[in-house]
Amino acid sequence: MALLLTVNGEDRTSGHGAMTPLVDVLRDEFHLKGAKPVCREGFCGACTVLLDDHPVMACLLPAGLAVGARIRTVESLAPDGALSPLQQVMEEHDVVQCGMCFPGMLMSLSGFLAVTPRPTRDEVKAALSGNVCRCTGYERIIDAVLSL
Ligand code: FES
Ligand code: FES
Repeated sequence: MALLLTVNGEDRTSGHGAMTPLVDVLRDEFHLKGAKPVCREGFCGACTVLLDDHPVMACLLPAGLAVGARIRTVESLAPDGALSPLQQVMEEHDVVQCGMCFPGMLMSLSGFLAVTPRPTRDEVKAALSGNVCRCTGYERIIDAVLSL
């Protein structure tokens, strides 16, 4: 049975089964390649998207459980190609290296900043605790967030 999913404000129909991981529907069927299936075990956070504004790991979430929710992927941050303020400060602080972790980090931070617009350093650290970066230190990422 087809699944009706709302992704980045658009209704999309998936022909995958309800148990297919959401990250696979987003990438393989909807061609939204931002979320990265790196570990597929809920460990790295690279697949993070927002579900009704809450960060979730799309590798662990069956697509059927996202029916009726608002799904947002990293592509929603710059719909017309202009970087969002969060993306701009990341660029200004030169924090991105290979970039595999970054779509997930941006979505975790987007969900977090929506409810905590003026966070402390410790709060930013806690918000990123589910996002693993193997390239860079976290300090400049946190500095970038605090500069918003
Ligand atoms: S790919 Fe989903 S948590 Fe690593
Ligand atoms: S920039 Fe490479 S894993 Fe984070």
